[in-house]
Amino acid sequence: MSQLLLQNRKIVLGVTGGIAAYKSCELCRKLIKNGAEVRVVMTETATKFVTPATFAALTHHEVMSDVFQDAEGIDHIAITNDADLFVIAPATANSLAKFATGIADNAVTTAVLASACPVVLAPAMNSRMLLNPATKSNIKTLQERGFYIIAPEEGDLACGDKGLGRMRNVDDIFSYICALLNDHIALPYQAPELSCLPSPTTPAALTQTKLLPKSHGAGIKIVITAGPTQEPIDPARVITNRSSGKMGYALAQMAATMGADVTLISGPTQLATPNNVKRINVTTAEQMLDAVKSQVGQAHIMIGCAAVADYRLIEPMQTKLKKEETGEFLNLQLVKNEDIISYVGHLVENRPFTVGFAAESNNFEANAREKLTRKNLDLIVMNDISDPAIGFNSNDNAATVFGPNGIVTSFGKMSKIKMADLLMELIIAEYKDHKTAKAKK
Ligand code: C5P
Repeated sequence: MSQLLLQNRKIVLGVTGGIAAYKSCELCRKLIKNGAEVRVVMTETATKFVTPATFAALTHHEVMSDVFQDAEGIDHIAITNDADLFVIAPATANSLAKFATGIADNAVTTAVLASACPVVLAPAMNSRMLLNPATKSNIKTLQERGFYIIAPEEGDLACGDKGLGRMRNVDDIFSYICALLNDHIALPYQAPELSCLPSPTTPAALTQTKLLPKSHGAGIKIVITAGPTQEPIDPARVITNRSSGKMGYALAQMAATMGADVTLISGPTQLATPNNVKRINVTTAEQMLDAVKSQVGQAHIMIGCAAVADYRLIEPMQTKLKKEETGEFLNLQLVKNEDIISYVGHLVENRPFTVGFAAESNNFEANAREKLTRKNLDLIVMNDISDPAIGFNSNDNAATVFGPNGIVTSFGKMSKIKMADLLMELIIAEYKDHKTAKAKK
């Protein structure tokens, strides 16, 4: 039998008093089913929604819901001592406020304050409570201290409202936990008002030894282009493409997690800026090129992940085109945009280690090699876009990386965030080798 995803993992599940507490029973069951040993700690209010007996039956352990209680000889201070992860689901606005200010007035808040392992929070509440500046500021404080936040989602709320605030579904929380424990990376979760990427870079987080951030990017400046560009036709219309920007943003997030100084030059996307990433927004290919020119002089690594439009209108219309005036056929005169990554690859002075991407639907290897040479790249990451399950807008990807001596490595189908983690590791390692080899010459 294949190994269970959470085999030998010890997880403490904290349940605070929100209606979403009923979903935590399912989460608890799923964690156990996948091999984890789970201990549950509850606030008194949470016990009004779900009885401790339910969790005790699921976990085969006594549930802790009172600070004066020793559950099987373990108290609230010690409950996380040998745990891999402490997951609070749901985390109410009230509990978040207490975690942020260090209040320890019940079994869950005390266990959080005394926690000996990383803490993941899955907030759940009414949207006005969530978007209240007090809660937003508490979440920000907690993120900055290295708590992992799983942003809530939009949907029907228990109070009858619709909106942002519903606890993330059990499968998402489960995947997040698996990614944290198995890959030592966190998935990006975005919500319109709350960019909730984990930021385990503070001294407090550094004490969370089981999830130490990787630091091999320290001292390295990386510029990444991401997303599509938009080339105006007239004031209302543009030429663009289906790039979501997810791969470039994932690379930026991972590079920042590794301690690099990251500048993300982004075309229009719906994505939130990853923590500790400087973002420059652009719309057209020409603007992207200008932004790259302004940044690349100081960069050690340049990654061209953007889907840059190959052509733009020679002269976009100043006023909106009217079909009554343009008639049956419309001819637009396009001119080629400069190739940004090729410009960087051919720099003579201050040329960074240059990585391009190629999205191909046939002749993969030949096309990748040809582009590597023509654009003078150090590495090229080749994506197969003939498979709709990967590539544009999908959360998954598969790729082969080529260098001047041929295939460097291949990544089978995996999440873009996981691939970004592996790719950034590879790119930083190759950059360091390249630098050492250059120094020896
Ligand atoms: O030639 P093709 O567009 O397939 O090459 C893709 C690679 O080139 C990507 O790395 C993309 O970011 C980059 N590119 C660029 N500027 C352009 C066109 C593509 O940087 N104008």
